[in-house]
Amino acid sequence: LEQPLFTCGRCELRDPTNLKMLAIFAVTFVVALIGAVVYFYSDGSRKRKTSIPGLDPTDAKNGNLAEMGAEGTVHEFLMKLHKTYGSIASFWYGKTFTVSIASPELFKEHMGVFDRPCELFEIFLPLYGKSSVEFTNKAEGKKRRIMYDPAFAHTSLGNYYGTFNELARELVQKLSAIPKDEHVSLMHHCHIVVIKALTRTSFGNYFDSEEIVNTFRQAYNDCWYDMERSLTEGLHVKGSDREKKFNEALEVMYGIVRNVMKERKTNPTAGHQRFIDVLLENELPEDQILSDCISYMVGGFHTSGNLLLWILYFLASNQDCQEKLHQEIKEVLGDGEVDKSNVKDMKYLRQVINEGLRVSVLAPYTARFQDNDSKLGGHVIPGGTPVWHALGVALKDEDLWPEPEKFDPERFSVANFTPRHKMAFQVFGFAGKRVCPGKFFAYAKMAVFVALLCRDLKFNLVEGQNIEQFYGMVTSPKSEIWFHLEKRG
Ligand code: HEM
Repeated sequence: LEQPLFTCGRCELRDPTNLKMLAIFAVTFVVALIGAVVYFYSDGSRKRKTSIPGLDPTDAKNGNLAEMGAEGTVHEFLMKLHKTYGSIASFWYGKTFTVSIASPELFKEHMGVFDRPCELFEIFLPLYGKSSVEFTNKAEGKKRRIMYDPAFAHTSLGNYYGTFNELARELVQKLSAIPKDEHVSLMHHCHIVVIKALTRTSFGNYFDSEEIVNTFRQAYNDCWYDMERSLTEGLHVKGSDREKKFNEALEVMYGIVRNVMKERKTNPTAGHQRFIDVLLENELPEDQILSDCISYMVGGFHTSGNLLLWILYFLASNQDCQEKLHQEIKEVLGDGEVDKSNVKDMKYLRQVINEGLRVSVLAPYTARFQDNDSKLGGHVIPGGTPVWHALGVALKDEDLWPEPEKFDPERFSVANFTPRHKMAFQVFGFAGKRVCPGKFFAYAKMAVFVALLCRDLKFNLVEGQNIEQFYGMVTSPKSEIWFHLEKRG
C-alpha cells in the first residue's frame, strides 16, 4: 500500500498518481458500459447504511462511478440523482457511502459544518500541494481562514477599485480597436483581465510586468488543462511526457511565487496589507505560503474569467437586458468610474451578475463531513459520511426558479427575490464560515468590468452558434463563443 500523504481528519489522502479511484473516475464510457452490465446483474447486496433513498453500488470497488461517467459530469449525475430520489439522496463514490443535498431547507440545516472531505478536491493535490487551505480542516483550517479572510473582505475592497478600473479601461481600449465585422473570441481577454486583477491587487507590483503575467498564465493553463484531462483520462503517469510538462509548468508558477515573496520581503510597500503580506508577516512555513498562494490564484482565475465570459454571452443573447443595463450604467456613471459608493446604485448590474452566476452554475458542488453521527432531513448521517452540497442542482430547480435555463435578471429584483427562501441562491457555498473567500472580491471586480465594458461597447453574437455548458471543475462553454463588437456613442 502507498504511504498516506496526509490526513484531512476523516480519511488519509494518498499520492494521487497511485490512486485507483481517480483513474477509475476518469474512465467514462467504457466504465459506464461495464457499470451498466454490473448494474443489471448485481443483486444490490451491499446494505443501505441509512434511511436516505438512493443508489446501491453497482460495483463493490467503484460504487456508482460508472453512473457518474455515463452522465458525463458530476453535476449532471447529481441532477439525475435528485430528480429520481428527491432533495436528499445517497450514492457510492467508489467505496465511500455519500449523501447529497439539494434544497434550501437542507442547506440551512447544514450551515454550521466546517470540515470538507479531502477527496473532493484531491484531483488538485499535485497543483495545490498538501499544505493547501483546501485540505486543511478542524482548528487549523478555521485559524487560517480567520487570518486570510480580511485581505478579501468588504473593508479591503476600497483599495482595489482603482486597479479594477484601470484594467477595465485597458480592455475597453483594446476591444474598441477591433473592426465591427470581425469575429472575436473573448475567453482569452476575460481570463487575462481577471488574472491581472487578482495578482496586482493581492500579490503586488511584481505582476505589473506584462511578460510575467503572460508567463504565469501560460504555466497556469498548462497545469489546469492537465488537471481537467485527469477527469477523463486519469492522472498523468509517473515518468510520462505529460507529467514532465505538468511539473515544468508547476515549477514556473512556484518560481514566480517565490520571486513575489522575495520582492515583497525586500520592498515592502506601506499602506494596505495584501494577501501576500498577510502570509509573510505571519511567518508561515514556505510550503504553506506557496500552496496557499497557488490555491487562491487557482480558486480565483477560472471561476471569475468564465463568469465574465458567461455574463457577456448572456447579455449578447438577450439584447433587451443589455440595453437596460447600458442605460443604468450611463445614468449612474456618466463617463466616470466605478467606486465603492456608486456601485450599489447600479441595482440592475447586481441582478445581471447574480443571474449570470445562477445560469452558468460556475462551481456546481462542494461538500462537508462531521466526525460523529448527526441528523439531516430527519435521517441519521453516520459519522464521517461526506455530505455533498449540490449547489448547481438547487440553482436549476424549477420549483425555485421557473424556466431555470432562461436568463432573466428580474428574478433578482427586490420584489421577486425577497419572497424566496434565503438559502435558494448559494453559489459561493454556505457552510461553517467556509464560504468562498473571494466572494466580495469577485462581485466587485465583476461589477467594474461589466459596467465599463457594457457602457462603451455593445456585444453581439455571431449567428448560428449552439453554445452548451460543460460542467467541469468550473463550468465553461463547450466551444469558443464568437462575438462581434460595436463601439457605443
Ligand atoms: C466568481 C466566482 C467564484 C465562485 C462561483 C466561487 C465558488 C466557490 C465555492 C462554491 C467554493 C467552495 C466553498 C465551500 O466549500 O463551501 C469556493 C472555495 C474557494 N474559493 Fe471561490 N469562487 C469564486 C471566486 C473566487 C476568487 C476570486 C477567489 C480568490 C480570491 C477564490 C478562492 C477560493 C478558495 C481559496 C476556496 C477554498 C477555501 C477553503 O478551503 O476554505 N474564489 N469558491
